Amino acid sequence: MKDDLLDTSMSPGSLTEVLEAIQERQDLPKAFHRLGLRSGVEIGVHRGSFSHALLRSCPTLEQLLSVDLWLTPASPGGCPKRHTGPGHIAAASSRLARFGHRSVMVRADSAATSQLLAVEGQRRKFDFIYIDADHGYEAVKQDLELWWLHLADHPRAIFAGHDYRNRRQCQVKRAVDAFALAVWLRLFVTVKDRFSSWIVCRGVPTLADAAGQIAVDNESSK
Ligand SMILES: C[S@@+](CC[C@H](N)C(=O)[O-])C[C@H]1O[C@@H](n2cnc3c(N)ncnc32)[C@H](O)[C@@H]1O
Repeated sequence: MKDDLLDTSMSPGSLTEVLEAIQERQDLPKAFHRLGLRSGVEIGVHRGSFSHALLRSCPTLEQLLSVDLWLTPASPGGCPKRHTGPGHIAAASSRLARFGHRSVMVRADSAATSQLLAVEGQRRKFDFIYIDADHGYEAVKQDLELWWLHLADHPRAIFAGHDYRNRRQCQVKRAVDAFALAVWLRLFVTVKDRFSSWIVCRGVPTLADAAGQIAVDNESSK
């Protein structure tokens, strides 16, 4: 992806162009930079490798909240069953320390953090939100519903996450597909990753796709 201009007043066409150029997860930080995104949150951090990539490759990012329970053993019913604890929080902490005040690590549950960020009717908003915590269907559905309310209101705001697939009790794709349909936003998926990321952008609606789908459905019901 080209690392060129920073344009904060983009048409839906140019937004689509930026999003279509995202082939793999490592393209996301540069895309966020092109979109001029300044605040973000990653839910589910583990050793901090993606938080690190975001802070390193998105210079417009003034502050990233990296939220994780870092709980040992992994939360009951959590998916994937990853054990996170002192070693992992220490790894994340030493990786992210070099970014100083741009990096804020929050050791708390995703839902509790969302609650903490909504005080007296004032909800803190972010230019992008990346969800990669518990991958069970109900947990992803809850994360989508809670964190959607924290997405900034401008058209460049990005809502995204990792592991777009359905596998046994991990049902990210099922939850994300239903969500994208409900909010009428076009769903982009990285094609070059082994484990894809999904992406929606507030300024890129799905109307054209939906119209196409309706036409196909009408054809098949004749
Ligand atoms: C797949 S890992 C995250 C990997 C990280 N995003 C990366 O790309 O390097 C999932 C993480 O989510 C955390 N997690 C699971 N459920 C959570 C919850 N309810 N609230 C906060 N963190 C949670 C786990 O502790 C684990 O570290």
